[in-house]
Formats: sequence, structure tokens, C-alpha cells
Amino acid sequence: MSHILTETKGGVARIEIDRPDKKNALTAAMYQAMADAIQAAEADAGVRVLLIHGKSDLFTSGNDLQDFLDNPPRDDKRPVFQFLYGISQAQKPIVAAVAGAAVGIGTTMLLHCDLVYAAPNARLQLPFVNLGLVPEAGSSLLLPALAGYQRAAELLLLGEPFDAHKAKELGLVTEVVAEGQLLDTALAQAKKLAGKPAAALRITKRLMKQGQMAAVLQQIKLESEQFGQRLNSPEAKEAFSAFLEKRKPDFSRFD
Ligand code: COA
Repeated sequence: MSHILTETKGGVARIEIDRPDKKNALTAAMYQAMADAIQAAEADAGVRVLLIHGKSDLFTSGNDLQDFLDNPPRDDKRPVFQFLYGISQAQKPIVAAVAGAAVGIGTTMLLHCDLVYAAPNARLQLPFVNLGLVPEAGSSLLLPALAGYQRAAELLLLGEPFDAHKAKELGLVTEVVAEGQLLDTALAQAKKLAGKPAAALRITKRLMKQGQMAAVLQQIKLESEQFGQRLNSPEAKEAFSAFLEKRKPDFSRFD
């Protein structure tokens, strides 16, 4: 079971993250399923728009930390990178609906979405440094460009959670929407896009993104090299083990 549900209706391909018992943490199999869903949607002329969402109180707690220990993604052929290349280069518009935890890649993937709706209960976070890791998904390039260096540094160096209103202020979220209306609103906006001339939409998206595309892909590669090395670091292993053992990490013995 991949824990990724897909459905295409009225030109909208929905990708739902469905692993609530582990807070929608993403495993390699789930990244692969999402990468495949994006690729299929891109290839299907009947799909005009993609919509990514989780549950009414949960987007995703980011990469599965047990999976990081068991199957560290050592190169950029791994499913997580297939997903990142897919979402960052998709030609069709992508709408996201975000509620509850949106940790790590749960926040960075939003930098590649076109319209992002978030509920007031959304709790975004970029805890890479706290886990002994570095940013991914091109976020070390895209976030400073979006929010300015100091605000990006605050989020990426301190790694503290922030809410939907702050995310909107930063430009990461399009609109804050009441919890009960989140998915309906995101779906209604996706349907609006699905009714528009598809080629004009695709070309407009490309025109907005193409100036940065090569740099974004290059940054994803650079980040992935550092990320792969950091995953094997004693700091990261301590951070993951501490989380899974439900204790505070102790970084004092590392230089
Ligand atoms: N990887 C693996 N398991 C995870 C997970 C993750 N990223 N996030 C949550 N889980 C698991 C927990 O281990 C727990 O499993 P258990 O019931 O078998 O003990 C279960 O999901 C519930 O998580 P819990 O921490 O009890 O829920 P919470 O509501 O108290 O907190 C979060 C929710 C998202 C704030 C918290 O789970 C969290 O911080 N997760 C880690 C986020 C993270 O660091 N992601 C990686 C980013 S690179």
C-alpha cells in the first residue's frame, strides 16, 4: 500500500497523502507514487491541473525519519529526487491545500506549487539544521529569493514552526482559508484553472519559471550531494534516533 491516493475528475488530478498513523510521513515508496502520479498527470491530456493535499488536520510531517535511517537517499536517482524533479518541472499548474503539520519537504514542496491554500491550523517548519541536515528541494535558493535573506535564514537556521499567516506574509501561501473550507476552496480554484485555455496556462507558468529553472535544478543537485553526506553524519543519526526514541537529541559530543 503506497499511502498515496490519486483520482482524476473534471480535469483535476488529486494526489492525497494518506498515512495518518505516522503523521503522513513520506517513505521512498510514497515519493515514487507521487512522482509517478505527477508524470502520469503531465502525460494525460485530460488532466489540466494537479491538486496535492493531505487530511483536514495534517499535510505531512516530512520525510519518514526511520526510512532515512534504513534507506538514506544516496544519489539523485532516488524516489525523493524523482518527486522533486517532477514537481519543480511540471508544466501543468499545481494547487496545494495545507492543514496541520507541513514539516520539511511538506513546506519546501510548496515553493514549487502555483496556488497554495492553508488552514489556520497549518504548522509549517524547516527543521533541517535541527536534524543535522541541510535544506532540500531548491529551498536554499528559492526561499531567500521569495522572502529575503534574513527571513529565510530565520526559518532555515532556527528551524522553528510558523503558522499559515506568517507563511502568507512570506509569500509561501496564497490564501489562508478556514479549516472546514480548505479542500473545497482548493478544489474550486483548481477547477477554475481546469476551465481555462490549457496551452496559455502552461506557457504562462513556463514564462514565469524558466528564468530560474536551470538554477533551481542545479541547486537541487548541490543540496542533494550535501544532504546525502549529512544523512550519514553522526549528528543526523543522533537526531533521528532521538526522535524515534522520543528523547531530546544530544549534539554536545560532535564538533
Ligand atoms: N518520520 C517517521 N515517523 C514519524 C514522523 C516522521 N517524520 N513524524 C511522525 N512520526 C510518527 C511518530 O514516530 C509516531 O509514531 P508512533 O505512534 O509509532 O510512536 C506517530 O508518527 C505520531 O507522531 P507524534 O510525534 O506522536 O505526533 P505529534 O502530533 O505529537 O507531533 C509532529 C506531530 C509532526 C510535530 C511530530 O511528529 C514531528 O515533529 N515529526 C517529525 C518531523 C520531522 O522532523 N520531519 C523530517 C523533516 S526533514
